[in-house]
Amino acid sequence: MTARPVDPPTPATPATPSTPAQPVVEERPTIVMCPEGPMLLRGDAVIEDADGNRHRTTRPVSAVCRCNKSATKPWCDGTHKLLPKKLRP
Ligand code: FES
Repeated sequence: MTARPVDPPTPATPATPSTPAQPVVEERPTIVMCPEGPMLLRGDAVIEDADGNRHRTTRPVSAVCRCNKSATKPWCDGTHKLLPKKLRP
């Protein structure tokens, strides 16, 4: 399976001057490729899998499987740690 980030969800309505301070919402997720492990996404994102199904992130940091062995695809479940090094992403 090849998962890739797609356009982020529509940002929340901007704060008006009378609204109290709001948390900063990043417009684009931060992406970190873990050596021999998952792709980490920080922020809101939508992942599209090889079948075209879209999966919205629900955590501040989400791990996307790159080894294709996770039981919870597109999310990493740690299975990559059990693979021989030559089969890790
Ligand atoms: S990268 Fe972690 S289970 Fe695939």
